[in-house]
Amino acid sequence: MSIETDAANNAGPQTLTMGKSMKRKEDPRFLTGNGNYVDDMRLPGMLYMAIVHSPYPHANIKGIDKTAALAMPGVKAVITGEDLVAASLAWLPTFHGFDKQMVLAVGKVLFQHQEVAAVFAETREAARDAAELVDVDYEPLDPVISPFDSMKDEIILRDDREDKTNHIYHWDSGDKDGTQTALDDSEVVVTERIYAPRCHPAPLEPCGCVAQFDAMGRLHFWVTSQAPHVYRTAISLVTGIPEDKIRVISPDIGGGFGNKVPVYPGYVCAIVGALILKTPVKWIETRTENLTTTGFARDYHMDVTIGAKKDGTVTALKVKTVADHGAFDAAADPSKYPAGMFGVVTGSYQFPVAFAELDAYFTNKAPGGVAYRCSFRVTEASYAIERGMDILAQKLTMDPAELRRKNFVRKDQFPYDSALGFTYDSGDYEGTMDKALNQIGYAELRREQVEKRARGEYMGIGISTFTEVVGAGPSKHFDILGIKMFDSAEIRIHPTGTGIIRTGTKSQGQGHETTWAQIVAEELGLDPQNLLVEEGDTDTAPYGLGTYASRSTPVAGAALALAARRVREKAKKVAAHLLEAATEDIEWVEHKFQVMGAPSRSVTMKEVAFAAYTNPGEGNEPGLEASLYYDPPNMTFPHGAYIAVVDVDAETGEVKVRRFLAIDDCGTVINPMIVEGQVHGGLTEGFAIAFMQEIPYDEQGNNMAPNFMEYLIPTSVEAPVWETGSTVTPSPHHPIGAKGVGESPNVGSPAAFVNAVMDALSPLGVTHIDMPLTREKVWKAIRNAEAAA
Ligand code: CDP
Repeated sequence: MSIETDAANNAGPQTLTMGKSMKRKEDPRFLTGNGNYVDDMRLPGMLYMAIVHSPYPHANIKGIDKTAALAMPGVKAVITGEDLVAASLAWLPTFHGFDKQMVLAVGKVLFQHQEVAAVFAETREAARDAAELVDVDYEPLDPVISPFDSMKDEIILRDDREDKTNHIYHWDSGDKDGTQTALDDSEVVVTERIYAPRCHPAPLEPCGCVAQFDAMGRLHFWVTSQAPHVYRTAISLVTGIPEDKIRVISPDIGGGFGNKVPVYPGYVCAIVGALILKTPVKWIETRTENLTTTGFARDYHMDVTIGAKKDGTVTALKVKTVADHGAFDAAADPSKYPAGMFGVVTGSYQFPVAFAELDAYFTNKAPGGVAYRCSFRVTEASYAIERGMDILAQKLTMDPAELRRKNFVRKDQFPYDSALGFTYDSGDYEGTMDKALNQIGYAELRREQVEKRARGEYMGIGISTFTEVVGAGPSKHFDILGIKMFDSAEIRIHPTGTGIIRTGTKSQGQGHETTWAQIVAEELGLDPQNLLVEEGDTDTAPYGLGTYASRSTPVAGAALALAARRVREKAKKVAAHLLEAATEDIEWVEHKFQVMGAPSRSVTMKEVAFAAYTNPGEGNEPGLEASLYYDPPNMTFPHGAYIAVVDVDAETGEVKVRRFLAIDDCGTVINPMIVEGQVHGGLTEGFAIAFMQEIPYDEQGNNMAPNFMEYLIPTSVEAPVWETGSTVTPSPHHPIGAKGVGESPNVGSPAAFVNAVMDALSPLGVTHIDMPLTREKVWKAIRNAEAAA
C-alpha cells in the first residue's frame, strides 16, 4: 500500500511531506514507556474513589447504610444518589438531548452494575474494600431484557419520565409509500432480520479521571476524553461552575473508539468528592466497570427488505429497526440525529427509492450506545446493506460482485443524491472493486471454490463494497448539546522557522502529532519534525468538538490546511518586503515565495519567519500566526472494497480466514503508513466483532461478558494476515482532498467476513447467521441445515 499511495500522492513536484510514510513523531515516547496517561497522575494528598455497583438489573433501593464503609481505616467519605439530589447533581444530560442519566441511583436501579454510591479513601485498595461494605437494601423487580418485550409497555422502566412508555423515539427517513409501492411491484423481494449485536469498544486503557480544585477554586480535570472542550462545557452546565474556572486536560489516551466520548457518572462523583473533601480525587475504572457500565455499541435489530428486477437491478430498500438503548438513552449522537448517520444504509447503490425507520426502547441494560469506531451507526447501516445485497445475490443465484457492479453509483454521477438524503461527494466504486477483484484473483478463487464444493468442502468468498459518511459536520445540521460541530486550528511559527500547532481534536493513538505536522509542513514548506502538535488542553487549544467518527481529518485537517494558508498570506507580505517587490507580484512555487517570472529571486518560509519577528517591513504586522474555525460544507464519503476468503470446517464449525484484502479510498492520503496502521487495527476489531465479541444478557439481566475471559480481545494469534491497497478519489470540497479513514475497516469488514461464511454455507441453503459467528453457532446452522435437507 505504502509504495503505491506514496506514488499517487507524490505526483507533483510540490510535495514536501504529503503522502509520505513519515515515522510517527509520538512513538519514541510510547515505545520507551514514557507516555503520560491519567493513571500516571500523582498529586499530593490525592484520594482514590471506588464505585458501588448494583448486582440487580431492576430493583427498588430501600436503604443504604454507609456505617461499616465509613468505619474502615483510610475512608474519608461515601456519597449516594440522595446526597447528589441535595446538591442538584443527581442527573447528567445525555449528548443528543433526548434523555438524562442518573449519576448515582436514586430510588431504584435500572441495570446490573449501575452506579449506586461512591467511596473516597486514602488508597485505591481501601476504597474498593470499603465499597464492598456499603450495605444497600434492594427489593428486586422483574427485569425487561428484550426490546421486543419492552415495546409491550407491560412494565414501565422509567418512572422519572412523564410519558409512561418504554418507547424513546421514532425516527424515519425517505419515502414510505413510494418504497412500499416499489416493493409490491418488484419481481424479486428478499427480506431478513439482521442483528448487529451489542458489543463494546473496550479500549485497553479504561476510563478515568483526576479532579483537583486549586487554591483559587478552579477545577483542573485530567480525564480520558475524546472531546475535552465538550466536557468543559458539559461540566459547567451540570455543576454550575463557570466555564473559565474549569480546565480539562486529556493527556495521552490508550484508545477510545467512541467509548471516551460520553460523560460518565464516575466523573461527576470524582468532582463532587474533590469539592467536598478539598483534596484531589482519582478514579480509574476497572475492566469490568468499563465493560458493564460505559457506552456499549450497536444493539440494532434490523429488518432489511430489498426489491429488485430479475436481472438484479435494485428497485427499493426498506429497513425497519428496533434499537435497544438500555436504561438511559446515552447514545453519543449529534442532537438532530437520534439514529446517527443510519441514513447511509443505501450504501454504494442506486436505490431509486428507500425508506428507513427506527424505534428505540429502554431495557434493563447498560446505557448507550456509542459510535464504536464508526460515524454514528454507520457500521450498522453498512452491515445491513452489505448483508442484504449478498442475500439478494444468493436468491438470484448471481455473483455478488456482478450484482454490486450492476447497481453501483457510477463515477460520473457524483455529487450523488442518495434516496435517503445524503449528497455523496465523490467515489469510484466500480474502480475500487475491480482493483480488489484483480488483486485477490477473484476468478481463480471462484474456480477453486467450484472444485472444493465438488469435494464437499466449504470455501467462501465474501465481498463488502461499503460507503461511509464521515466528518461531522456542517453546522446547519450537526451539534452536540447545541454546540455546532466545527473544528479549529491554531498555528504559531517561531522566528527560527519552527512552530506549534494546536487543534480542537484529541488523538488516542491515531498519530495526529505526525499527520497534523505533515499538513502544515506541506502548506508552509517547513520541516514537520520541528512543528510541535499539542492537543487536549482546554486552556491552550482552540475550541473543538474532538476526535471520533473519523472527523479529525475531514474537519480539523481542513482547518489546519486553511489556517496554514492564512499564515502564508501573512508571510507573503513579509516576503514581498524582503524581495523588494509588490505583494501581488509574489507567488508560492515549490514551497518558496518567488517574484513572478524571476525564479532566482526567492525566499524560504524559514527566512520569512525570521523577518516576521526582526524585520517585517513597514506597515506589516509583526509575528507569524493564524487561527481558524472550519465549518465543513458537507460530510466526506470514503469507500472501500473488502474481500474475505474463508474455509469452514463442517465437522466443527471452525472458520479459518485464509485471506483478507482491503482496498480503501480515503481521498488524498496524508501518511500511508499511518493509514495502513489504522486499517490493520480496524480490520482486527472487525474480525473480533464478526467472530468473537458480544455483550449478551441472560434472562435475569446478568451481563454475561463482564471481563476479558468472556469478552474476547483478538491477538495476533487469531487475526489473519491483512492485505491492503488503495485508490485515491479526492473529496472535492476538502481543502486537501482528504476524507477520514480510521473507521472504514471497522465499518466495512464485518459484512465481508459474514458474507464469506454464508457464501461457504450457501450449498446447504443457509442464508444468514447473526454475529458473532462462533464455532457453536456455525456448527448448529450446519446441523440444522442438514436436518432440514
Ligand atoms: O478522527 P480520527 O483521527 O479518528 O480519524 P481520521 O481522520 O480518519 O484519521 C486517522 C489517522 O489517519 C490520522 O492520523 C489521519 O491524519 C490519518 N489519515 C491520513 O493520513 N490520510 C487520510 N486521508 C485520512 C486520515
